[in-house]
Amino acid sequence: MTARQLHLNAFLMNTGHHEASWRLPESDPYAHVELSHYVRLARTAERGTFDSLFLADGPQLWSNLAQRPAGALEPLTLLTALATATEHIGLIATASTSYNSPYNLARRFASLDIVSGGRAGWNVVTTAGKEAARNFGLDEEPPHAERYARAAEFLDVALKLWDSWEDDAIVADKAAGVWGDDTKIHPPRHRGTYFSVAGPLNVPRTPQGYPLLVQAGSSEDGKAFAARYAEAVFTAQQTLAGAQAFYADLKSRAARAGRDPGHLKVLPGIVPVLGSTEAEARAAERLLEDHIVYEHGVDRLENLLRLPAGTLELDGPLPADLPPESAIEGAKSRYTLVVELARRDRLTVRELIGRLGGGRGHLTFAGTPEQVADRIETWFTRGAADGFNVMPAVLPSGLDAFVEHVVPRLRARGLFRAEYGPRQTLRERYGLPRPANQYLSPAFS
Ligand SMILES: Cc1cc2nc3c(=O)[nH]c(=O)nc-3n(C[C@H](O)[C@H](O)[C@H](O)COP(=O)(O)O)c2cc1C
Repeated sequence: MTARQLHLNAFLMNTGHHEASWRLPESDPYAHVELSHYVRLARTAERGTFDSLFLADGPQLWSNLAQRPAGALEPLTLLTALATATEHIGLIATASTSYNSPYNLARRFASLDIVSGGRAGWNVVTTAGKEAARNFGLDEEPPHAERYARAAEFLDVALKLWDSWEDDAIVADKAAGVWGDDTKIHPPRHRGTYFSVAGPLNVPRTPQGYPLLVQAGSSEDGKAFAARYAEAVFTAQQTLAGAQAFYADLKSRAARAGRDPGHLKVLPGIVPVLGSTEAEARAAERLLEDHIVYEHGVDRLENLLRLPAGTLELDGPLPADLPPESAIEGAKSRYTLVVELARRDRLTVRELIGRLGGGRGHLTFAGTPEQVADRIETWFTRGAADGFNVMPAVLPSGLDAFVEHVVPRLRARGLFRAEYGPRQTLRERYGLPRPANQYLSPAFS
């Protein structure tokens, strides 16, 4: 049996995760809407035998136009194009359960799974913020608990739709003149709090059955949701101890939900800033920090912390009387992470913005390839991670460097695959079983 292996996901974000990356001489400020940019990145990640690549998304314009390249291609559309430019790598799109309906979205993901030969994944998010709400006829975001209640029903409906065709519903019997078997079609006839969906889906069952289900919110509701549905979890963690606690918590929640904890993979984010020496890596990090326009960061921080505009002073601390997480209806776990980071390290607003500039709260780590490999190995072997969400500060150069210098070290240590091997679905690559069709379980009949 091979030793436990790392799972690596490439989180692609326009010219890189650092908010000032677009200002470097090497960066193309139009790259975020260039197909060729993403094709290059996807092929690099595939050269590095990554499990998957991933696109974040929200149905609103993120950031103001002055700050960084804004606007984004719709992930399922972009991933469909990338499916034809790659062969092995998994393709994970973010889509919101608050601002979609299950039938349309289940159909789009089923289509991506078929087009890509079983490589689709869905990062299920509930979408924080009034900006998105106002694009869908609402004045404010629905309360946090309600967003997660809707997400759970959304998933239940989507799962029924994906199962609504049995694998062998198509018989294609030309001689008998029978194309499909209606007894193998199961319309969900769902009637719930948020959705009424008759079904069946208008796409046959897909290579994976349904896309790999990924989740990325770490609040109490988010973790409960992950324990029930998620097969992979993206999370922002600042410390080894914090990541270990999160990992243990999620695995035990999965067990309590009656699932095999090994079937839920935990992937913290890491923003590697590489240099051939430690000094070079630190200089690369400083160069990025020097390009941050701090006034832009203030707006974003006030938005995350739900503070009125003009509250924060760049050279002062965060206000002492910030509300507890329970009073926040936005992105709860990110709120807590940012407040704890500022308090723990006694940061001014300016310093906090500098620390968040690289990865919005994900662990930024500047070092040599050896040091980055050490950090990954430590977290992996000490119960903090099943793999990593790799978030290069600058793209494409940061992914090139990771594939060229870190991946070979992980391979040499026996932690990561040297090649893809036989063709696999995304779920198989993550070491997960193909889900059974719920309509065939004894409990259903
Ligand atoms: C790696 C990562 C990627 C994420 N991508 C998105 C995204 O693309 N869109 C989104 O609305 N939320 C995304 N989130 C989740 C938000 O940050 C936020 O946490 C979520 O909306 C609610 O989470 P909560 O359960 O902590 O309140 C992501 C989180 C992580 C850790």
